[in-house]
Order: sequence, then structure tokens, then C-alpha cells
Amino acid sequence: MARPSAHLKIKAPAKINLFLNILRKRPDGYHDLYSVLQMVGLYDELIFEEVPQGMTLVSSSGDLPMDDRNLVIRATRSLARATGIKSGVRVILKKNIPIGAGLGGGSSDAAATLMALNRLWRLGFSRDDLAKIGQDLGSDVPFFLHGPTAFVSGRGEKVVPCVLNIDRWLVIINPGFEVSTRWVYEQFSSVRARAGSKNSWLTNLQENIKIHSSSKFKLYYSDITLHNDLESVTEPKYPVVKEMKECLLGEGAEGVLMSGSGPTVFGIFKGKIGAFNAVRKLKPAHPGWKIWAVKSLRRSPI
Ligand code: C5P
Repeated sequence: MARPSAHLKIKAPAKINLFLNILRKRPDGYHDLYSVLQMVGLYDELIFEEVPQGMTLVSSSGDLPMDDRNLVIRATRSLARATGIKSGVRVILKKNIPIGAGLGGGSSDAAATLMALNRLWRLGFSRDDLAKIGQDLGSDVPFFLHGPTAFVSGRGEKVVPCVLNIDRWLVIINPGFEVSTRWVYEQFSSVRARAGSKNSWLTNLQENIKIHSSSKFKLYYSDITLHNDLESVTEPKYPVVKEMKECLLGEGAEGVLMSGSGPTVFGIFKGKIGAFNAVRKLKPAHPGWKIWAVKSLRRSPI
């Protein structure tokens, strides 16, 4: 009798940037940055099934490229190339995280693919190994292999895992259109090229990370200075970013910020009731916006 084919299911979460400081443009065109990244409870779902050879991908999203630009396909090829493995895989991708949103959905799918195939193909790579293989696929791939919370630097490849000490509810709003990450970084560089502006919170954080490097460094939401350098590009171009943040503040958010290159924004709420009330009020008033109440994750599902 034929052996039933092995398969596994994995959830790939979205991320938000609680802090994002762009330092400088690098000779390779990317930017060095400092960021605090946090996984949140909004997920793509992936199912992997081992097949004798080749790769097929079925996706629920009509907007996703299904060629070499697709990060699930690129992650599979990178791993197959790195190992010379001949086994194949069939992947079903249910896309819930909006594309071109600043929520890291593509990098998360790539990290989930690397972890799933590592198990399915019994490759025995560590998370660090997979992060090295995956870091060129997307700048946030190393973070997604070391979440749920981390201080990230370099282009995104230097990841120091942290512990976020208090639970918070978040309301996430996406206005329903994509923004090109590349375009936002280019604008930031040409308009605001400058040496990294450091604030005292960041200096403090780096000192603490040095001291606590052997154990996971503890972060508190109340300690974090919410800041995103890229807001200065995306917000003037798309005024809806400011409007969404104002709506969240109007509904009682403790703090609001754009995530990554945007246009998605989030608001931090102390409790579940406040977050769900905000969603209940904002959804009917803004039918074009996608709005979720989610928790910041304490464990990575990847
Ligand atoms: O790595 P990822 O595909 O997410 O990056 C998309 C684009 O964002 C890059 O092509 C680059 O233009 C810009 N980027 C950057 N510096 C980073 C991350 C991204 O310039 N650290």
C-alpha cells in the first residue's frame, strides 16, 4: 500500500513595527535600520504536502504573483538549491494579510515555508541556518524565524529576540490599497538623507540588550517610544494614513503608528473590550477599510 503523503499546516502571522529608525542608505541599495518588531494575531495559512517532485502552489488571492516573484515559490527553490533535495511539494496558501501593506506578509510566508519544508524534508537546519538562507528573500524573513518580538538592525538580518512583558490588544486598519516599499525607502533617502537620529530610548535599549545579551531582554509597551521614520514619506502622500490614526485615537487608543512602509496603521488598546468597540464603530463608517482587533503574540506560530 502506498504511504500516505506527509503534510503539515502552519500559520504565518503579520508583524507591526513598534519603532523604526532608518539610519543610512547602503551601497547595495538597502537601508540600515533599527526596529522593534512584534508579531500579531492576523495570519496567512499554509498547507504543505510532500509530493515526489516539482512544486505547485494554489493561492486564495487573485492579487498575488504566481511566478518567481512569489516568496513561497522563491523560498522553496532556495531551500531545494541549498540542499540539492529532489523531493517536491504542493502548497495551499490562504492569504489573509493584505499585500503591500507594511505588515510583512510575504516575508512571513517565506519564513513559514522554510520552517515547514525543513520539517517535511527532514533537513535538520537550525533557525539561524534558515534565516541565512532566507535573508535575501525579504528583509523581515530573519525576524519571522526568531519572533514573536525582536530588536532588529542591519538591513533586517541582525535579530535580537526580546520578551514583550504586557499583553495588549491592537486595532489594525488597512485602507484597501498597496504601497510600494521600495518607493517609500527611495523617497525617504532622496528627501531626508541624513545621519541616523538617535533618541535616548533607543540608546537605552541598545545598552540593555548588550547587558542582557545572554537572556531574552524584557520590553514593556509603556517603555517604547512609538516612532516610524517612514511616516514622513507615506503620510503626506496618502492623507488617509493620518485619518486612520485620528480615528483610532478618537476611539481611545493609547498610541497609534503606521507599520513599516505603510499604509497600514495600528492603535494600541489596554483591553479587549475597547479594541472590539473601536472595530464595531469604525467598520460601518469606513466600508473600504479592512479593520481587525488582534492580540500581540507571546509565542511564534512559525
Ligand atoms: O526586503 P524587501 O523585499 O522587504 O524590501 C523591499 C524594498 O524595500 C527593497 O527593494 C528596498 O528598496 C527597500 N528596503 C530597504 N532597506 C531595508 C528593507 C527594504 O531599502 N532594510
